[in-house]
Amino acid sequence: MHLNFDHFLNRSDFAPWRSQLADMLEAQVQQKKHGHLNEWLEIIQTLPDITASQIEFSTNLITIGKESDATPAEIGQLNTLLRQLIPWRKGPYDFFGVSIDTEWRSDRKWQRISPHITNLSGRRVLDVGCGSGYHCWRMLGEGADYVLGIDPTKRFFVQYLACQRYIKSEKFDFIPVGIEDLPEKMVLFDTTFSMGVLYHRRDMQQHLLELCDTLRDGGELVLETLIVDEDCDGLVNGILIPEDRYAAMRNVWNIPTIARLEKELKLAGFSNIQCIEENVTSLDEQRRTDWIKGYSLKEFLDPNDISKTREGYPAPKRATMIATK
Ligand SMILES: C[S@@+](CC[C@H](N)C(=O)[O-])C[C@H]1O[C@@H](n2cnc3c(N)ncnc32)[C@H](O)[C@@H]1O
Repeated sequence: MHLNFDHFLNRSDFAPWRSQLADMLEAQVQQKKHGHLNEWLEIIQTLPDITASQIEFSTNLITIGKESDATPAEIGQLNTLLRQLIPWRKGPYDFFGVSIDTEWRSDRKWQRISPHITNLSGRRVLDVGCGSGYHCWRMLGEGADYVLGIDPTKRFFVQYLACQRYIKSEKFDFIPVGIEDLPEKMVLFDTTFSMGVLYHRRDMQQHLLELCDTLRDGGELVLETLIVDEDCDGLVNGILIPEDRYAAMRNVWNIPTIARLEKELKLAGFSNIQCIEENVTSLDEQRRTDWIKGYSLKEFLDPNDISKTREGYPAPKRATMIATK
């Protein structure tokens, strides 16, 4: 299957950066760098041709077609092929009655955040670190005019392609790149989301500046990230820097307090900074299901005290900030 980003590249909004974006995408999807990509693309091509009589992304379960749209053989084939794209982390989704119970109930995060942000109706939106694109569909469900999702993890990109195989939306493009790969100052978006990404970036301020660069003046940033309380042991200037792993993750570089996050946002040029929600991740929001292989949150916490990670840090707590450019 040949990957084609023409729909994205031909949008007039991206015209000033078209050739730069085209070169960058070409480099990103080179077969050599991602051994499995071709194999996964084959899976997408093999998905049965079924016409979805209904598509629903305004509700918690993203629903693609009805069971009655497909034959039992097609449903069996779908189930087998979609399982080859495991782990499915962000969702849930339902493909013609094949219910994908993802590791994360991503709908919970959306319910906490969406009532507090500027209405997405008619807005051009960027979702940085969009995973499989679950929240991007929800953004369209709330009236966004266009959503660009970016995420460097190729498996999640392929999960998006599985959805698009049936949804065929012209309003949601996904490009498999990191924020650092975007052209500088691609100042285009009315709302930019960065959810669950900041702590994976080594330089917090740099990430905020990159996000700021994507927004038009007056645009809104929605930033969701891990935080710690002010009285957390081992804070240095309001930041916890895990020594090694945090909740089994190798790539967690910094976990700020809300006060430190506010300072960083101000320094990056944002105003009207507000914390709209705080939440300790629950064992029924992130859990092991048969659509992932391996462990989930429960196994990453101290078995004798779930208020701590197994490394002894505070268990994952998240906050969402909104701010204006
Ligand atoms: C914890 S997940 C969050 C997914 C989703 N935004 C959510 O909140 O449920 C973090 C995502 O960020 C992506 N990511 C990591 N580094 C990134 C980068 N430099 N630019 C964009 N996305 C990145 C990962 O591939 C992963 O899908």
